[in-house]
Amino acid sequence: MSNISTRYLGLDLSSPVIVGSSNFTSKVESIAEAEAAGAGAVVLKSLFEEQIVSQAHSMSVRESYPEADDYLQYYTRTNSVDSYLELVAGARKRVKIPVIASINCFSPKGWTDFAVEIENAGASALEVNIFFMPVDRHQTGAASEAVYFNIVDNLKKKLKIPVSVKIGMRFSNLLNFVWQMYNHGASGVTLFNRFYEPDFDINNLSIVPASVLSNPVEQRYVLRWVGMISAQDTKMDISASTGVYTGEDAIKYLLAGATTVQVCSALYKRGFTVVTEINEALRKWMDVKDFRSIGDFRGRLNYRNVENPSLFERSQFMKHYSSYI
Ligand SMILES: Cc1cc2nc3c(=O)[nH]c(=O)nc-3n(C[C@H](O)[C@H](O)[C@H](O)COP(=O)(O)O)c2cc1C
Repeated sequence: MSNISTRYLGLDLSSPVIVGSSNFTSKVESIAEAEAAGAGAVVLKSLFEEQIVSQAHSMSVRESYPEADDYLQYYTRTNSVDSYLELVAGARKRVKIPVIASINCFSPKGWTDFAVEIENAGASALEVNIFFMPVDRHQTGAASEAVYFNIVDNLKKKLKIPVSVKIGMRFSNLLNFVWQMYNHGASGVTLFNRFYEPDFDINNLSIVPASVLSNPVEQRYVLRWVGMISAQDTKMDISASTGVYTGEDAIKYLLAGATTVQVCSALYKRGFTVVTEINEALRKWMDVKDFRSIGDFRGRLNYRNVENPSLFERSQFMKHYSSYI
């Protein structure tokens, strides 16, 4: 019988399938369901930097001008942060699988002390989901990237638990960016987050949100970068996120060199049974291929291990299109 356990961010996982940050990981009850379905770990729903900072602000206002405090506003803000700590502690108590906390952030200071509270509440690791829209034409790409590195530097100074970074896919040189993130101390990288995208409604002449859920075809974009980044000489774990719907999708990402895969949209469409099905399909495929452990095939098709690595490179598109009739 094949063994699908793996190590991710220094943690032992019974399966490489992680339930990604979403509403499925915002309650202890559903986290327990994820474990029962066979998830190897969960990444909690993100707490937003703004929530942490606004609590700190609200508390200082309250101390200075207690009579001016808007109690309701204070309560709502405090509650979101406190209840996040309760979620971490509650999940930690209820399930055996690693509980990875998540913070959505865009600045290196002002909130990182709170990460220590998350660690103290029992989080196994922290995934920081970093994003800011580069809308200032005077800010260089290097300056934008430095924000990511500063965040990792500050967290590494304060935390003992491993830190992974969840990023979007649009960087001028992803290989260099991820390699630098490794040098700054990140233990893992989650490729990739999927952000709000605007779409146009041509009947109402208005801007509307594009589909929140992914489409399995989006996996193609991710596969290339997992295959290229995993071939780099770093000890950084890759968690592949976007477009994991079936066992086949998960196997492709593992072949590309991911250590884990994260599921999210598939859960919204089909529920936790997806996790069980992916585990079963993975075991079955490993049995047929005679792979005993994930280490027997992980990265087998990455940039370093394939016979013709140029297939990962963009120049091949020219050949591809010119021979297409
Ligand atoms: C409804 C919804 C809520 C999400 N919330 C978060 C979140 O709080 N933090 C985060 O890092 N990613 C969040 N994501 C992104 C997912 O974790 C995941 O990275 C993305 O959807 C791509 O994976 P998928 O193709 O399996 O959906 C959310 C996605 C969805 C659809």
